[in-house]
Amino acid sequence: MKHQQLTMDPDRLQVMIDLLPHVDGLLPNLKSVEESWQPSDLLPDFGGETWSEDLASLRAEALNLSDEMLVVLVGNVVTEEALPSYQTALNRFGGLTDRTGVETHAWARWSRGWTAEEKRHGAVTLGYLYLAGRVDMNSVEQTIQHLIRNGFDTGAGGDPFRGLTYASIQEHATKTSWRQLGSIAGKAGAPQLHKMCGLIAADEARHERVYRAMMKGILERDPEGALEALRDTLGRVAMPAKTMADGKSRHLFQHFAHVGQRIGVYGLRDYADNVEGFVEELRLDGLEGLPEGDAARHRDEICALPVRYRQQAEILDRQRVRPVAFPWIHGRRV
Ligand SMILES: [Fe+2]
Ligand SMILES: [Fe+2]
Repeated sequence: MKHQQLTMDPDRLQVMIDLLPHVDGLLPNLKSVEESWQPSDLLPDFGGETWSEDLASLRAEALNLSDEMLVVLVGNVVTEEALPSYQTALNRFGGLTDRTGVETHAWARWSRGWTAEEKRHGAVTLGYLYLAGRVDMNSVEQTIQHLIRNGFDTGAGGDPFRGLTYASIQEHATKTSWRQLGSIAGKAGAPQLHKMCGLIAADEARHERVYRAMMKGILERDPEGALEALRDTLGRVAMPAKTMADGKSRHLFQHFAHVGQRIGVYGLRDYADNVEGFVEELRLDGLEGLPEGDAARHRDEICALPVRYRQQAEILDRQRVRPVAFPWIHGRRV
C-alpha cells in the first residue's frame, strides 16, 4: 500500500519512507497476542474458586504500601491511562501516520501494535488500585478524564525525528519508573504489585529498544537532521502527564513528580542517566565527519546535557519541598 502522510519537511519524510524496510524488520519485537500477558492473568479471577482468598491476599499486601508509594503508583497509572493522547501523538508524526486506521505500512503497524500492548499497562494497574481499596478511585478517575481532555504536546510539532527521540526517552523513563516502584513495593511486602511492575517495565524496555533502533536508522541516513532533533528534544524535559489535573491542585504533576523523586522512583538524575545511555547507544561522542557548523555544535551540546542535568539535580536536592495533600489518598499529606 502507498505510504501516506501529513504535510511535513519532504527530506525528513523521504527518510521515513526509506526506513520502512528497517521498521518492518523491527516489527517482530511486538509480541503476539497469544504470548502476551493479560491484565486478568495478574488479578483475582472472579469466576474461579479461590477468588475470595486471592482478593484478600491482594488487599492484605496493599496495606503494606505507604502513602508515598500510593501517590506514585496512582501518578503512573494515570500517565498510562492517557494512552489515547499518545496514540494520537504518534499519528501526528509525519510519515508515521495511519490515515485510514488500518494501513499496512510498517509505521502504522508499529503504532497500532505498540498501542495495543500499552493498553494493558493502565488496565492491570487500575484494576489493582480498584481492588486494593487504598485510594479514592473517583478522584483517580477524574484525574484521568482531565488529563485526556487537557491533551498532551510532545513539542515535536509533527516532526518524526523529534517524535521518535521523545518516544525513545519516554519509554526508558517509564521503564525505570515502573522498575524502581516495583522494587520498592516488593521490599515493602507487595509481591503481586512487584510482579506487575516488572512485567510492565519489561514491555517498556522492549519498546525502548525499538524506538532507539529507529533513531539509529534516522541518524545513519540524516545525521544533521537527527542531531538537530535530538538537541531540541533532549534539551527539554517534557513529561507526558504534565497537564495532569484533579480539579483541585494547579501543580498536581509537579507534586506527584516530587514524591517520585523523594522515594527514588524517578527524578532528574534518572533523566540524566537516560539521556546519557541514549547518547552512548547512538555513539554520538565519536560521531565524526560532520560538516562544519550546526551539526557538530549540536553533537557537543547533546553530549554535555547529562552533566548539566546532574548539576540541576544537586540544586534540587537542596530545595525543601513541603508536604501537600493529595485527593487521591483522601487528602492525606505526603
Ligand atoms: Fe506503558
Ligand atoms: Fe511505554
